[in-house]
Amino acid sequence: MKSGSLTIVGTGIRSVGQLTTESIVCIQQADKVFYIVSEPIADSLILRLNPSAESLQKYYVHGKPRLQTYQDIVDRIMESVRDGKQTCAAFYGHPGVFVMPSHAAIRQARSEGYEARMLPGISAEDCLFADLGVDPAASGCQTYDATDFVMHHRRLDPSSAVILWQIGVVGHWTFQQTGYANLGLPLVLEKLSEYYRPNHTVVVYEAAVLPGCEPVIQPVPLSQLPSATLSPGSTLYIPPAQATAPDLNMYQRLGLPITF
Ligand SMILES: C[S@@+](CC[C@H](N)C(=O)[O-])C[C@H]1O[C@@H](n2cnc3c(N)ncnc32)[C@H](O)[C@@H]1O
Repeated sequence: MKSGSLTIVGTGIRSVGQLTTESIVCIQQADKVFYIVSEPIADSLILRLNPSAESLQKYYVHGKPRLQTYQDIVDRIMESVRDGKQTCAAFYGHPGVFVMPSHAAIRQARSEGYEARMLPGISAEDCLFADLGVDPAASGCQTYDATDFVMHHRRLDPSSAVILWQIGVVGHWTFQQTGYANLGLPLVLEKLSEYYRPNHTVVVYEAAVLPGCEPVIQPVPLSQLPSATLSPGSTLYIPPAQATAPDLNMYQRLGLPITF
């Protein structure tokens, strides 16, 4: 192994309280820290843990394609690793959930012979399960990026819960400093209407990012989704719309009693 290394950590959605002990230690002990967080308290928390910390937010420029931003982030992180530094990069939430550059940096570092690992963090979905009282074991849970859901022939199971990430930025490939028109939202609605009735209640969810704040939970009938308030931090939760159909043949083969 070469002397540089890379550890990717997550700061949780609410950094004050959700930054894990092992991530704190990694940030403190690193020679160089990079970070992308979603609120200013997290910023100063990371800087206090390690004064070498450098924000990667500068690569998000109005109108710049996201893929270019991600490549710039990987390049900056790898510069430090190649320089022989124990490098730590912190991303908000879980660093491996809906974060392209974290995985890309780990792949790049390993391909060049550096030690690289990722530590888990608390994602928006984890917060959603807690705030909305959803247990994915109860009905199953399908998770998609909203744009990916529109662009591909995805199949939904309406007896399962469904979570659509990035519902506030559907079809946007560039960073927009001034907010997103979200012109792709009607297409999401069109596709969801193949599976759900217009009056099926869906929930626009935003976890609290600051301590002491409450999550924003907006239940709306599916047909009213376009009039809900959406932001780049919104996630859509769709509860199951029908009961799960039991497979009686499998019940028999598993030797389970049929009690319903
Ligand atoms: C680039 S992804 C980052 C996800 C993050 N790594 C995580 O683990 O949650 C951004 C998307 O995550 C979700 N998200 C981020 N912050 C959120 C919050 N405070 N509440 C609900 N969803 C959030 C939204 O779907 C948003 O569009």
